[in-house]
Amino acid sequence: MKILVIGATGRTGKHVLAQGAARGHEITAFARRPELLTDRGGLAGVIAGDAHDLATMRAAVQGQDAVISAVGGSGIARTLITAMREAGVRRVVMTSSRSVPATRPRLAVTLAWLFFRAAYVDLARAEGMLQVSGLDYTIARATMLNDKPPAGRVHIDFADNATGGAAQLARADYAMALLDAAEDPALAGRAMGICGPK
Ligand SMILES: NC(=O)c1ccc[n+]([C@@H]2O[C@H](COP(=O)([O-])OP(=O)(O)OC[C@H]3O[C@@H](n4cnc5c(N)ncnc54)[C@H](OP(=O)(O)O)[C@@H]3O)[C@@H](O)[C@H]2O)c1
Repeated sequence: MKILVIGATGRTGKHVLAQGAARGHEITAFARRPELLTDRGGLAGVIAGDAHDLATMRAAVQGQDAVISAVGGSGIARTLITAMREAGVRRVVMTSSRSVPATRPRLAVTLAWLFFRAAYVDLARAEGMLQVSGLDYTIARATMLNDKPPAGRVHIDFADNATGGAAQLARADYAMALLDAAEDPALAGRAMGICGPK
């Protein structure tokens, strides 16, 4: 597949680039600071720009089979949805947080919302935009991310609260789940929760 990766220099995004290329996909990296992409060997292309800029996004999505946004947010969702609709690109996977819909564990969720309220409100807005976009979206709600080595497995569910798995998720495993989702048409129109494996 031809896949555009937004947030390509991020801690999750860089794993999506490497794993996507290793899977044989034609990966185009979209980054505000492309100079951080030191190893471009496996990439089909690099596009420099801010994902809030509609003109850049319009050019970036042309000819892609799918978009993985390894960064969440309503500003990015807005330009991305517009550009994808215009270009007829339908498949999009966007990161979000498990905390957006979660109500349990009550103390942890309350504290998380206390500290990250603005971010979660914006992710909720982005999720809503995707859900009414008409695109083949998958919302990938991660639990707490870390940079530990990958386990090669994740716990996935489709409930508001986690049904199992670990509270910590390696970014490399998150990237694997984002690519798995982009490859799986059955996940279109769904929001999934992703935890670490138990
Ligand atoms: N961190 C967590 O524990 C956690 C938990 C649950 C879910 N999530 C989700 O997972 C995502 C990835 O997390 P992460 O920790 O891997 O992220 P990260 O390391 O902070 O990377 C975010 C990337 O997005 C890029 N970016 C931000 N705004 C952009 C814009 N307007 N245009 C183009 N690029 C832009 C950043 O570029 P610059 O370098 O230029 O800033 C950076 O490369 C989060 O966005 C969130 O949706 C995170």
